[in-house]
Amino acid sequence: MDIRLLPVKFSRKDLPVGTPVVGMVGGGQLARMTQETAVALGIQLRVLAEGPAVSAAQAVADAPVGDYKDPETVRRFAAECDVVTFDHEHVPTDLLQSLEADGITVHPGPDALVHAQDKAVMRRRLDTFDAPSPAHQVVETPADVEDFAKRVGGFPVILKTTRGGYDGKGVWFVDGPDDAAIGTAFASGVPILAEEKVDFVRELSAIVARSPHGQAVAYPIVESVQKDGICVEVSAPAPGLAPEKAAQAQQTALTIAGELGVVGILAVEMFEARDGRLLVNELAMRPHNTGHWSIDGAITSQFENHLRAVLDLPLGSPAARAPYTVMVNVLGGDVDDMHRGLLHCLARDPALKVHLYGKSVKPGRKVGHVTAYGDDLEDVRERARHAAAYLTGAIDE
Ligand SMILES: Nc1ncnc2c1ncn2[C@@H]1O[C@H](COP(=O)(O)OP(=O)(O)OP(=O)(O)O)[C@@H](O)[C@H]1O
Ligand SMILES: [Mg+2]
Repeated sequence: MDIRLLPVKFSRKDLPVGTPVVGMVGGGQLARMTQETAVALGIQLRVLAEGPAVSAAQAVADAPVGDYKDPETVRRFAAECDVVTFDHEHVPTDLLQSLEADGITVHPGPDALVHAQDKAVMRRRLDTFDAPSPAHQVVETPADVEDFAKRVGGFPVILKTTRGGYDGKGVWFVDGPDDAAIGTAFASGVPILAEEKVDFVRELSAIVARSPHGQAVAYPIVESVQKDGICVEVSAPAPGLAPEKAAQAQQTALTIAGELGVVGILAVEMFEARDGRLLVNELAMRPHNTGHWSIDGAITSQFENHLRAVLDLPLGSPAARAPYTVMVNVLGGDVDDMHRGLLHCLARDPALKVHLYGKSVKPGRKVGHVTAYGDDLEDVRERARHAAAYLTGAIDE
């Protein structure tokens, strides 16, 4: 394997005394948005980038290019950092365990992170402390899928790859024993998890930050809308959610963070089932799309609390700044030039906040998000939706 780190422009000894260096593996938009808050706190962010011009590499001076699956590359990258953290969850567990064995601080640690990497491991572990989950079972054959369907009262059921899925890729809705999706799922070559298809009213997300000394904070519970497996819109707080349910969702996320020993942000995707249950869908241990609203809508953003947590600094208030905040993702559409619509959007709504990720447009790709906040949910939502639709070219006026 070709081990190649592009030369960095400066080294640690050029930085002021005491400057913490946080290494983030992965150069996507999450690392890019982390840089905004790292700059404010005087923290040096170092990114292990997939290429010289990826989203975060455009914004971070110290962004060597290398393969995050190559142990020697990651070790050399980590050697200059106080702590290593992540923009994605794809670094192999054994590689991270060997870094820890070498004395490198990794947050979240591999034993926690594996629960965000492998959905079967996650389900098994959540069952040990009775975190509420949909009925589930690892399946090995089409006959297993039929047996599972019988156990949960019949089709439809959901099949998921245990590893490597994202944005709904690796999730199949199966309507019956002859559904072609069963063959597609098993052809993926990864172990498959079957789940009851939850009849949900909506999807919620609970985000908490937890630090090594055990301090934790919980953000307001948000509602997230998914389309074709991709998060498109988030409302904070989840409109109309009963306070006891919100507290229960926060408590579930705090319990999971504590049980698993998560350090940094933990996002718990949940279903609000029609029968009233709050069920855990999946976990992410990094800043999450359902927390982007917090950059403009909360006193301390998820990115700032992630940095504070991995450095074991006191956590900041997760409280909302306004009664409602709505974030709408800007997904690649017909227009290539994301700056073309800025004139209109910024002129129409001086309180709008726009975040562009420096990514070239491909259909459905997350290239940015917009946030609006205020007292009136309908107004806030209309402003955010309008801006996202205008930027992508879905509307023109
Ligand atoms: N058991 C279930 N019952 C009903 N719908 C489900 C179930 N599991 C998943 N879904 C739907 O499929 C979407 C994607 O599933 P999941 O979050 O597990 O996949 P993913 O590809 O890993 O997602 P992400 O992009 O969040 O990493 C969910 O947001 C939900 O809309
Ligand atoms: Mg998901």
